[in-house]
Amino acid sequence: MAVISLVSSKGGVGKTTSAVVLAGEFAAAGRKVVVIDADPNRPLEAWSGLRPLPDLLRVVIDDSAETIIDTIEDARADADFVIVDLEGTATDRIGFAVARSDLVLIPLQSSVLDAAEAAKSVKLVRQMWKVANREIPYRVFFSRVPPAIRERTARDIERQFSGSAVPALPVSLTDRAAYRTLFSLGGTLHNLENADVSGLENARENAREFTQAVINSLRGEAA
Ligand SMILES: Nc1ncnc2c1ncn2[C@@H]1O[C@H](COP(=O)(O)OP(=O)(O)OP(=O)(O)O)[C@@H](O)[C@H]1O
Ligand SMILES: [Mg+2]
Repeated sequence: MAVISLVSSKGGVGKTTSAVVLAGEFAAAGRKVVVIDADPNRPLEAWSGLRPLPDLLRVVIDDSAETIIDTIEDARADADFVIVDLEGTATDRIGFAVARSDLVLIPLQSSVLDAAEAAKSVKLVRQMWKVANREIPYRVFFSRVPPAIRERTARDIERQFSGSAVPALPVSLTDRAAYRTLFSLGGTLHNLENADVSGLENARENAREFTQAVINSLRGEAA
């Protein structure tokens, strides 16, 4: 049904982490999810091999720009949510995925707006509006935000983006050990136990709020 792509021209900003967090929340809510690993480094393939995934969650590997549209459309026919995890460098495949998306999410690392990075990804999305002949919704969001500055960051987001043409998610993904642990132990936040990592409840709460903000964006709620 809904296709969500994680896009950034910069590496290591939290695309794959966000993809896994969203997938885990959707599956926990009883929705069928396909996560497409469209990164040559195959981070999701590695993640999916660590621990059995929920029945409702499936990882599909995509090979190239030539196949990405078919991979997305096949997944769309089979799932409630399709999440596309893309590589952190500019490629044709990213453009194709964006053109097929219902929502593009652009993570920004740091609590201060990385204006240049955001602008590059936003420009790509808006370029793809012409290719797709429709306005593809997109949102930027802050990822890996230290929890201590969470409140300030919420205000920063409002201040930095209000009045600008760039729509932002009202929730940041906080920096939590639990999110890193997903890639050492595998599975979703719902598979982890308090003994595995500290701050698990906080991470779960953040994941819920983040996912709700994404759903609201899919429903067309203004940023
Ligand atoms: N919210 C978070 N809390 C804690 N660690 C995080 C968070 N987001 C990302 N990280 C860590 O930062 C690193 C990069 O994250 P991730 O792989 O998700 O980024 P990416 O944008 O997908 O990178 P790439 O461009 O290489 O695909 C990883 O080690 C990940 O565990
Ligand atoms: Mg990645």
